Amino acid sequence: MTQKLALRRSRAIQYRILRRSAFPSARRTFLFALQAGSPLVRSLFAGLTVLAVALAAPMVAAQKVQLSVDVSKPGAKIDRNLFGQFAEHLGHGVYEGIWVGPDSKIPNTRGIRNDVVAALKAIKVPNIRWPGRCFADEYHWRKGIGPQRTVTLNPNWGGVIEPNTFGTNEFMDFLDQIGAEAYLSVNIGSGTPQEAAEWLEYLTTAQPTTLAKERAANGHPAPYKVAFLGIGNESWDCGGNMTPDYYLSELKIYSRFVRNFNPEQQDKQQMLKIAVGPGGSESRWTEWTEAIMKAHQSHTWSWDMSGLSMHSYTVVEWPPSYASVGFGETEYAQILKSTLEMNNLIDKHSAIMDKYDSQKEVALVVDEWGGWYAPLPNSNPGFLVQQNSLRDAILAALNLNIFARHADRVRMAIAQMINVLQAMILTENENMVLTPTYYVYKMYVPFQDATFMPVTFDAGTYAHDGIPLPRIDAIAAKDTRGKVWLAITNVDPNQSAELEISLAGVNTKSAVGETLTAPTVDSVNTFDTSNTVVPKPISAKAQDGKLALKLAPKSVTVIAIEQ
Ligand code: AHR
Repeated sequence: MTQKLALRRSRAIQYRILRRSAFPSARRTFLFALQAGSPLVRSLFAGLTVLAVALAAPMVAAQKVQLSVDVSKPGAKIDRNLFGQFAEHLGHGVYEGIWVGPDSKIPNTRGIRNDVVAALKAIKVPNIRWPGRCFADEYHWRKGIGPQRTVTLNPNWGGVIEPNTFGTNEFMDFLDQIGAEAYLSVNIGSGTPQEAAEWLEYLTTAQPTTLAKERAANGHPAPYKVAFLGIGNESWDCGGNMTPDYYLSELKIYSRFVRNFNPEQQDKQQMLKIAVGPGGSESRWTEWTEAIMKAHQSHTWSWDMSGLSMHSYTVVEWPPSYASVGFGETEYAQILKSTLEMNNLIDKHSAIMDKYDSQKEVALVVDEWGGWYAPLPNSNPGFLVQQNSLRDAILAALNLNIFARHADRVRMAIAQMINVLQAMILTENENMVLTPTYYVYKMYVPFQDATFMPVTFDAGTYAHDGIPLPRIDAIAAKDTRGKVWLAITNVDPNQSAELEISLAGVNTKSAVGETLTAPTVDSVNTFDTSNTVVPKPISAKAQDGKLALKLAPKSVTVIAIEQ
């Protein structure tokens, strides 16, 4: 390209920039001078180019999003159990992640890591599902109690040794240390109703039965509280490949005979039973939901259920092949598009549930969700080890928002806790690192048991590689002390979002909170650099009752609004 041509092109570009500029007088002066072509002008040329770009750039990002919260129309309670977690005997989820044993050099309390307990306490984990999902249907609880543990195998997850050193009493101790409730999964795949019934008697009876005495001898004379009981796991697949009718027969038997004897759980705080539900939107799963809900509609006194479980991971293709780190914007957009399918899935199964349970007595329990990616190189593929990036924080926020918007039906949701799949925490020997997903859970603590408030806003569109996504997502809620909270996600990884926030009929004064972002969509926290993706303070003052807030690209923000 000749110098002349290059200069002409560069002028044309600057002219286009200036035509879009918000400063018409600057534009006029510049155009006049350019036509005059004086040496002084030419010497100013380069400097003005920089100025022009600077003036024009904010124009692109300047579209304001009007967001309004209507506090006069409260919705359902956002149940704290939507922020549940789970500990499966899978990879280093339990061993190393939770349990290091009382003789370990890693600081612990009765064998349970102190650092992990402190981190989980800080996010107020409401419940923990244990001993697993596929693992649960091969678990025999007696192998994991008392002074002599049976060493066995874990054929589901890598075929490794299962020492059974983390068993019933250790799990209940772990819950006690973090202040969470028990969600036990009973083995209906390879176990028997009698085995499950005896497990519950061991855990919950206050009467001096032989099993209660055994529990006391193992260090816990008082009965334990078991808040939730999962009857099987994915019984249509790894849980025994059952038909809906076969599963229903099992459900009725286990629901009838696996009793909770804890005297404090007889009237109030009764144990809630959760049945196996769908794993997707295909017809075999809509038929499953139909069959279970239809049967439940005419259930007799002898069996019941309070929840129907639903599992849905963000995978895109099976086997999971997306990288959990070292990916670009296309993979970012593809994964987020896929995760938003959760909304349709909940709508689809809720509609079936509504047909048989218009009062919404049975909760939809999304007790397996999150991003499921390719195992990290050099890791045991059966351990499901993956990193957790800023993308996962955004994915978590989008899913938590979907659950909150369906809070009248979705009253429990559970994601993986440590070292596997979309984990909150990663550990390696004595090191622990908190993931971007952990920080989203921490920022969302005020939403636990808060009341949903409707929010209106124009989400706009962010598109990449032909994949359109809502640019902004937001939910609002009022906590039990009357404070209004807002969670806003800016999905767009390139542009900041300027919001003008108002509370209908309320004079807002200011807002304070935290925002989570990072340099790239695949930014992660590592054992060496644990502070790449951590929340930073954010605040805004109101003008004329409106708050102006600028949100960074690819960010999750939670603010409390002061009135
Ligand atoms: O958590 C990993 C596995 O995913 C669970 O064991 C199973 O329920 C699901 O398919």
